[in-house]
Amino acid sequence: MSDNTIIEMRNINKTYDNKVIINDLNLNINKGEFITVIGSSGCGKTTVLKMINGLNTPDRGEIFINGENIKNENIIELRRKIGYSIQGTSLFPHMTIEKNISYVPNLINKKDKDEVKKSVSKLIKVVGLEESILNRYPEQLSGGQQQRVGIARALAAQPDILLMDEPFGAVDEITRKQLQDEIVRIHKELEVTIIFITHDIKEALKLGTRVLVMDKGEIVQFNKPEVIKKHPANDFVRELVL
Ligand SMILES: Nc1ncnc2c1ncn2[C@@H]1O[C@H](COP(=O)(O)OP(=O)(O)OP(=O)(O)O)[C@@H](O)[C@H]1O
Ligand SMILES: [Mg+2]
Repeated sequence: MSDNTIIEMRNINKTYDNKVIINDLNLNINKGEFITVIGSSGCGKTTVLKMINGLNTPDRGEIFINGENIKNENIIELRRKIGYSIQGTSLFPHMTIEKNISYVPNLINKKDKDEVKKSVSKLIKVVGLEESILNRYPEQLSGGQQQRVGIARALAAQPDILLMDEPFGAVDEITRKQLQDEIVRIHKELEVTIIFITHDIKEALKLGTRVLVMDKGEIVQFNKPEVIKKHPANDFVRELVL
């Protein structure tokens, strides 16, 4: 493991109902990478993602974040350090946008209300929204706006790692394009490490500094977009990039 490694997964196995879902998976992710993950439905993408923030645990294998085995870490602390954004409305419907974003534990704990307000104002701008929406409720926003608020909330803990599970799946093409440009900008600006699951190969190739292709619980190729395009590792990848 090099100093630059932020996430390392070693010999990860997961079985559900006697069915092997993840088979001896090994993975190294460097600080500041933007990893896109793609593969057929049910191949284990979400399962792997959730292992990184302890929402799921492997049957066998070890996971290290910044060199620390997550087995030895407090799971609440771990989740606090890792942003998690999923498709659709994960916002609390009965809370304003402002409350939704500041709900993140380390903002709640802050006594200084002005400071919290400042962070929220900054975050809402980071995701390309106007402060005027802060007093609205989620149902008073469009799907794309809600998705942006979801990202703002995931960023509120100033995480080193941002996990995103098909975050732009439910929005129209134009909004999706805007969100893609936004997340690329955020990635550069905040130097956060992103792992981003998508069903869309174009999105995977456009956003990823490296693309991880999974099939049946295994990594079939993990490389730069141009390499994936030029030298697909097998027929599965070849079909995908066609
Ligand atoms: N709690 C569970 N109990 C039993 N089986 C599960 C459980 N969670 C996931 N699985 C199974 O594990 C496999 C991998 O699921 P996972 O959610 O990781 O797939 P995915 O690659 O994210 O798929 P999708 O692209 O459809 O989101 C699937 O076959 C799924 O049915
Ligand atoms: Mg999934």
